[in-house]
Amino acid sequence: MGLLSRKASCNSHGQDSSYFLGWQEYEKNPYHQLNNPKGIIQMGLAENQLCLDLFESWLAKNPDAVSLKRDGESIFKELGLFQDYHGFPPFKKALVDFMSEIRGNKVTFDPNHIVLTAGATSANETLMFCLADEGDAFLLPTPYYPGFDRDLKWRTGVEIVPIHCTSSNGFKITLSAIEEAYQQAQKKNLRVKGVLITNPSNPLGTTMTRHELDLLINFIDEKQIHLISDEVYSGTVFNSPSFLSVMEVLNHRNLRQTDVWERVHIVYSLSKDLGLPGFRVGAIYSNDPVVVAAATKMSSFGLVSSQTQYLLSAMLSDKKFTEEYVSENHKRLRQQQRELVSGLGKAGINCLDSNAGLFCWVDMRHLLKSDTFEAEMELWKNIVYEVKLNISPGSSCHCVEPGWFRVCFANMSENTLQLAIKRLESFVGSVAINTRTHEELKSLRRKTRNNWVFRLSFQSFHDREQDDR
Ligand SMILES: Cc1ncc(COP(=O)(O)O)c(C=O)c1O
Repeated sequence: MGLLSRKASCNSHGQDSSYFLGWQEYEKNPYHQLNNPKGIIQMGLAENQLCLDLFESWLAKNPDAVSLKRDGESIFKELGLFQDYHGFPPFKKALVDFMSEIRGNKVTFDPNHIVLTAGATSANETLMFCLADEGDAFLLPTPYYPGFDRDLKWRTGVEIVPIHCTSSNGFKITLSAIEEAYQQAQKKNLRVKGVLITNPSNPLGTTMTRHELDLLINFIDEKQIHLISDEVYSGTVFNSPSFLSVMEVLNHRNLRQTDVWERVHIVYSLSKDLGLPGFRVGAIYSNDPVVVAAATKMSSFGLVSSQTQYLLSAMLSDKKFTEEYVSENHKRLRQQQRELVSGLGKAGINCLDSNAGLFCWVDMRHLLKSDTFEAEMELWKNIVYEVKLNISPGSSCHCVEPGWFRVCFANMSENTLQLAIKRLESFVGSVAINTRTHEELKSLRRKTRNNWVFRLSFQSFHDREQDDR
């Protein structure tokens, strides 16, 4: 241990949070319809598996892209040899066109302003290296994606200062919350270099309003700092209001000729919109040529492989395919989100109104024994170990109110989603009875043959589920 670097041996990677612990529990006992029907259902993974069949049929119709051929001739050598770290120009062009398409072609992007990275994870970290020094801070609205603690802080030494948002206004960003975070950073002697937002939000599943984006632009203008907009979920907006990119707001306000223009940077990736996290395709889009040049050099640490760029440039240049994909993806996401929201509604559980993303932000405050994060953790453990659903507690997203959970819906079939809802419904029934008075419980115990509902530990929960089948 003593021989390792401080970075390797410290725990500022944030991977010991319940968000990642839940994944580990799932790995030990993963649900499978036939092989492990009592296993844990993974609802803590923001993966989009709803449209993989569309890719498979595209691949079947486009064998050249898969077998590394151009007009029937092998280009294996071309792809297998040295890759220029500026990226494959046809791919960069196809990617920026796709980014415009999912923004309703209201904004255009210049391929010379884009830097390819191995996923948004790498894009976010690279931007930190470009915009901040060790000990500088970025302000982030809460609740935020738990991976940011690792991606933004660990290797760069950058600090995150939370902008606390609450349920009182649907977790919207307010000027007073931003200013308070800025003052907190100053009290800690941290130099604030920027604000980082996710739009649409992970974990809220909501898009930002023009008012919020205006507030943020005004704020970074006044403080002379940066704004990073992580827009990895921009293609998942399945309901109105439609997606509004910060780039569109900058254009609308005619800010192109001002210095704010160069201080706004977008992070994108194909992990969520196309559901291809395994391909590791991400990008930084910046209007600052110095940032683009530095990030391009840094991208050597995490390039996108040539064959991936080749395959995806063919796929994304097929406009008929992308149009059909985008619309079908929206349709399937909308349907799956509705199933979850209505199923939870029947169990007396509400979700924050959402129009995007691969998850719902679920309100389980009424199921807590007390209004504390200890109670949230206790409920979470019951849900993971007894109900056998891995969901993510709000505390892992730095939410300030106990009792909120992020529940993913796009990484499973409709049948699995229905089973998950059923498990949760039975669990809520048991919790509701547990809150009854001692006398009520005694009389119920006499009336019912099954006594599983009285066990506060919920140990017999799964026997009951079995009976229900
Ligand atoms: C907001 C946000 N940014 C970045 C990432 C990382 O994405 P990638 O797989 O492209 O690295 C995620 C993944 O969940 C995310 O939710």
